[in-house]
Amino acid sequence: MKLNAFSTLTATAFMAGTAMADSFPWERLELNNSVLVIVDIQEGLYNLARDWEPLVYVQNTFAHASIAKAFDLPVVLTTSTETGPNGPIPQEILDMYPDAPLIKRPGEINAWDNPDFREAIISLNRTQIIIAGIVTDVCTAFLARSLRAAGYSVWANIEGSGTTSKVVRDIANDQMLRAGVNVVSFFDIVGELMRDWRSPAAANLLPWLDEYMPAFGMTARAHRAAIEKGTLVTGQDQLPS
Ligand SMILES: *[C@@H]1O[C@H](CO)[C@@H](O)[C@H](O)[C@H]1NC(C)=O
Ligand SMILES: *[C@@H]1O[C@H](CO)[C@@H](O)[C@H](O)[C@H]1NC(C)=O
Repeated sequence: MKLNAFSTLTATAFMAGTAMADSFPWERLELNNSVLVIVDIQEGLYNLARDWEPLVYVQNTFAHASIAKAFDLPVVLTTSTETGPNGPIPQEILDMYPDAPLIKRPGEINAWDNPDFREAIISLNRTQIIIAGIVTDVCTAFLARSLRAAGYSVWANIEGSGTTSKVVRDIANDQMLRAGVNVVSFFDIVGELMRDWRSPAAANLLPWLDEYMPAFGMTARAHRAAIEKGTLVTGQDQLPS
């Protein structure tokens, strides 16, 4: 009896998983069809991002913002009531895109409720939107779900969004997943846009990764050092190869 109940549950879960996979077919990010959106990454909101160490999270938001520079994508910035406590976007991010549209929403919490923001996205005529914002459950998730309802494909960079706690973040990410949002890492986005380590863009990408994904940058530095000035130390030649 117990076994049957368990089997039924397993089968149902499996079918639900299949149905989900069918309704949101895997789609690949395309350089010529994607837009980077920076949502409410504002100085007054950083303090709400308690699911990350502050040092890491500030760097994560700069990394998210820099994706458009690395891949030459169009970018749209938006802020929520920035003259109030939410404050401005950090100058480091503004300096990356002095000419990009920056939609300062006077009150709308969901960026999609603002006609200027909608127009900024629609006028780009691209269907794949990469987003991150503070906070995950409001600024990111509201916009992500509205974009899905409007027919866009959405990639939410989990490392670029932050919120009040880990449980709140997990629920917000679950809700986005149920709406067909691709909830992914920074490296997932980078890998999809880059596609091939032999791509012409790769020459510029390694110095960029060194800055925004130092774990990889240091690997590349160590490999270069090994080739340019490395020797095997005692015992290294006995390791499996
Ligand atoms: C983007 O480029 C790919 C080839 O790399 C092509 O198949 C696709 O149709 C292009 N998409 C748009 C929207 O131009
Ligand atoms: C918008 O993009 C589609 C698909 O790439 C293209 O066929 C169409 O001509 C574009 N429209 C405008 C106004 O650029």
